[in-house]
Amino acid sequence: MTTKAKTKTAAATGKTGVSGPSPVVVVTGGNRGIGFEICRQLAQRGAQVILTALQAQAGQEAANKLAAKTVQFHPLDVTNAASVDGLRGFVERTFGHLDALINNAGIFSKEDGPGLEVKLEVVRSTFETNTLGPLHLAQVLTPLLKRSGAGRIINVSSGMGALSEMQGGYAAYRISKAALNAVTGILAAELSGAVAVNSMCPGWVKTDMGGPNAEREVAQGADTAVWLALDAPQTLTGKFVRDHKVIPW
Ligand SMILES: NC(=O)c1ccc[n+]([C@@H]2O[C@H](COP(=O)([O-])OP(=O)(O)OC[C@H]3O[C@@H](n4cnc5c(N)ncnc54)[C@H](OP(=O)(O)O)[C@@H]3O)[C@@H](O)[C@H]2O)c1
Repeated sequence: MTTKAKTKTAAATGKTGVSGPSPVVVVTGGNRGIGFEICRQLAQRGAQVILTALQAQAGQEAANKLAAKTVQFHPLDVTNAASVDGLRGFVERTFGHLDALINNAGIFSKEDGPGLEVKLEVVRSTFETNTLGPLHLAQVLTPLLKRSGAGRIINVSSGMGALSEMQGGYAAYRISKAALNAVTGILAAELSGAVAVNSMCPGWVKTDMGGPNAEREVAQGADTAVWLALDAPQTLTGKFVRDHKVIPW
């Protein structure tokens, strides 16, 4: 069915949304860094991108910068339940389903430090954004992802959260990403056959978080998340992926 025909069908059935042939993808933290680049690459591939951001002005400016008809901004604080519900309502009204959720938003606190010294408050707030945010978004958006028929959740994690290469320092961030990987494993098992769920590591990337000395440009950092959203086999699920390859947890 063509998009035009689908639009007519939607209008005839009174639905406000249209399920076009291009995949519908939500990206959290889409206003800068890896998230913005993910949105750019997705738009270039013709996806319907919902670029979400904590700060409305920064998010709208980022969407305008991409200047693509298929990119729409919607505000989202991943730690705020009402904000997550608002996003769900928007996606449901606009598209009726969701093909991929890319949980990219994350923080790396300046007050992070060694496990024996870091303030628990810093661990808690990092966990809220990096772990509970993605978990909550997955809980709320999974009904829409199930309607896709080929839904995907991509959790942007980090090698710093890999138990197989765990080291000291930056304890809040490491704990939050190790736990995010657990979220991936749990949801992949629970959604087996319905929605593919994977963690990915972008590598060390030149962003505000990664700093100017990082090894990778944003394009490379974003590439595997875009691949997992659009190209990876639907059977790839419950894995930790970097550069399109499965890596140890
Ligand atoms: N850069 C690296 O080397 C590297 C390495 C491994 C993994 N990662 C992961 O990759 C992801 C993106 O990192 P990045 O380097 O692009 O970081 P970044 O440049 O610091 O950008 C972080 C993004 O997350 C958003 N954000 C923070 N808290 C949020 C909240 N409560 N709700 C919604 N959005 C929120 C920020 O919004 P504001 O602009 O409003 O603050 C910003 O858009 C993160 O999950 C990070 O842990 C990065």
